[in-house]
Amino acid sequence: MIVARIPATSANLGAGFDCLGLALRLHNDVALIEDGPFRVEISGEGADTLPRDRANLVARTIFRYYEAIGRPTPLFSLRMLNRIPMTGGLGSSSTAIVGGLLVANRLAGEPMTRDDLLRLALEIEGHPDNVAPAMLGGLVLSVVEGGRLTTLQVPLPDTLRAAIFLPGFTISTREARRRLPTRVPLEDAVFNVGRAALFVAAMATGQVDLLRTATQDRLHQPYRQVLFPAMPRLFEAALNAGALGVWLSGAGSALMALARDDAGPVIEAFERAARTHGVAGRARAVDLSPTGAELVDEG
Ligand code: HSE
Repeated sequence: MIVARIPATSANLGAGFDCLGLALRLHNDVALIEDGPFRVEISGEGADTLPRDRANLVARTIFRYYEAIGRPTPLFSLRMLNRIPMTGGLGSSSTAIVGGLLVANRLAGEPMTRDDLLRLALEIEGHPDNVAPAMLGGLVLSVVEGGRLTTLQVPLPDTLRAAIFLPGFTISTREARRRLPTRVPLEDAVFNVGRAALFVAAMATGQVDLLRTATQDRLHQPYRQVLFPAMPRLFEAALNAGALGVWLSGAGSALMALARDDAGPVIEAFERAARTHGVAGRARAVDLSPTGAELVDEG
């Protein structure tokens, strides 16, 4: 058996649409059993909804991996333990892709490097900002140029704590991407370019007070707000309770906030604002993960 443990991720981080992502200390496990007949067992999140046939994303990724290395796919079965909530916005599909690639690569004798795997993950997922931090860990900046991916891990201050709000409804990434305009005003592009750069610089230099400005966004959150109308109210509540910055996590519906030392007041503020504005959901603390996906066990 080959087991991969892959972290949840929060993408965009406000201004860094499709470029910035952060790994969280909340993991899904993917186990590959080197024997048939083909079978998928799922426990935890998504156990009742995720496909258990060859349409399963981990399985599809393994078939895609073997196609990429030009070898027939050996017999295998899968066992998944999912701890990452499926509300959307915490990179659960990236964990399936990254996990599938890691176990398949180990089974094949590791002909691909992590960089090769990441390139293939990007090809499958379509955007890099979840798969890159899931593979590498920490805060990752990803830039794609003609299919080529450049990634940079940015140091994280160790006093940061994080809170996530998990609404009682899901938002599909496809739907959330359909809401985005194909053109944006130059002024809005400039607004985000400066803030995404500020986010990276603030983290790298430990100037976390800059995160409030750095997490503001005009490229995706305003267009997605129609899918989560109370979002600005929850942002406001988190910031008033001392959050350093707050954003729609990936394409939503999860929200994420960073705090200094203690995320407790932000968690309470998220839940209070949600009750006030009639939004079902719950908030919880989550730690940031400096490490990415790893193979944890082989038996
Ligand atoms: N950057 C992507 C988006 C992340 O916002 O659509 C989706 O998880």
